[in-house]
Amino acid sequence: MTTHLHNTARNMAGKKILVIGDIIVDHFIWGSVNRISPEAPVPVVNVNREELLLGGGANVLHNIYALGGEALLCGIVGADEMSGRLRDLLAGLGTSDRGLITADRPTTVKTRVVAQGQQMVRFDREQTGSPEPAVVEALIRCVEEQVVSADAVVISDYYKGVISQSLMERLLVAVHRVEQERGVQIPVVVDPKPQAPERFAGATLITPNQLEAERLTGMTITNEEELVQAAQILRERLLCEAVLITRGEAGMALLEADAEIVTIPTMAREVFDVTGAGDTVVAALALALASGASLVDAAALANVAAGIVVGKVGTATVGINELQAELENEGEKK
Ligand SMILES: Nc1ncnc2c1ncn2[C@@H]1O[C@H](COP(=O)(O)OP(=O)(O)OP(=O)(O)O)[C@@H](O)[C@H]1O
Ligand SMILES: [Mg+2]
Repeated sequence: MTTHLHNTARNMAGKKILVIGDIIVDHFIWGSVNRISPEAPVPVVNVNREELLLGGGANVLHNIYALGGEALLCGIVGADEMSGRLRDLLAGLGTSDRGLITADRPTTVKTRVVAQGQQMVRFDREQTGSPEPAVVEALIRCVEEQVVSADAVVISDYYKGVISQSLMERLLVAVHRVEQERGVQIPVVVDPKPQAPERFAGATLITPNQLEAERLTGMTITNEEELVQAAQILRERLLCEAVLITRGEAGMALLEADAEIVTIPTMAREVFDVTGAGDTVVAALALALASGASLVDAAALANVAAGIVVGKVGTATVGINELQAELENEGEKK
């Protein structure tokens, strides 16, 4: 098992993933507090350091590069300073910004102020909902063009307006055309938000977390039987090849057609920071599937990657060497 996971991980090198989704810039402000403001009963933060990180769909892209793949990001940004900073971050990874479409709205930025090891406040600058029709059309055109050279597609949905029914429909038409032309499969992996689930019909694999799976089906999941039932309902309703429900500390559960559910316990030994684990999961899944791995192997590999990322503080990615080393470790224990 581990040997061929090793080979899968090796084969991920250079695979091209088209990431379509809501782009977020994560802005951190670190400081310290020594007094309460004389103006209002709030702490005064002395700022020491600021950092901008790729978030949302851009964090999936970041994870793909860390795992040795290549990716192009399609989504929308504003005509503002933050979109320039975002382009710089993307250039730093060596990826192109040609999939960024400028809309009449701000680039989504989430700013966290952290002091004394604690988040003091978060403020968001964003405008959600459908962008103007010309922007939607430009985005879809871009997706149709870029899918031609992709080995797999990731949909990174935060329900902020990029992933619409029409985009998904035209993406899938383009995917099927390219599959015929190139004689290959192009898996489409969806990390969904639970709103408007009909958008995701026809994807290869959908990866909700347990709460999202509950909202998508209207069920509550309290035992294995309900877990299987929710996965079946989702798979049949959305006509997906498979459903992977991620379950935080309980690991994952994969349901394919005509198969028993496969449950995978978490590999995490220590847990420091679970944010972004879902992005690592879809990045690894897409790269593994693009390398020809089975759904079960892709899920197993994604689970190892997620187990590593939750053990890190402040970094939301896993390097290919770390992944290989962890697979080696597991192999030795067997
Ligand atoms: N507390 C935890 N302990 C152990 N493993 C975890 C924990 N949280 C997440 N993981 C690992 O990460 C994977 C994905 O996590 P989770 O199910 O929380 O996804 P998510 O809710 O979509 O995450 P995100 O907040 O990034 O959207 C899990 O399947 C598991 O392998
Ligand atoms: Mg998630």
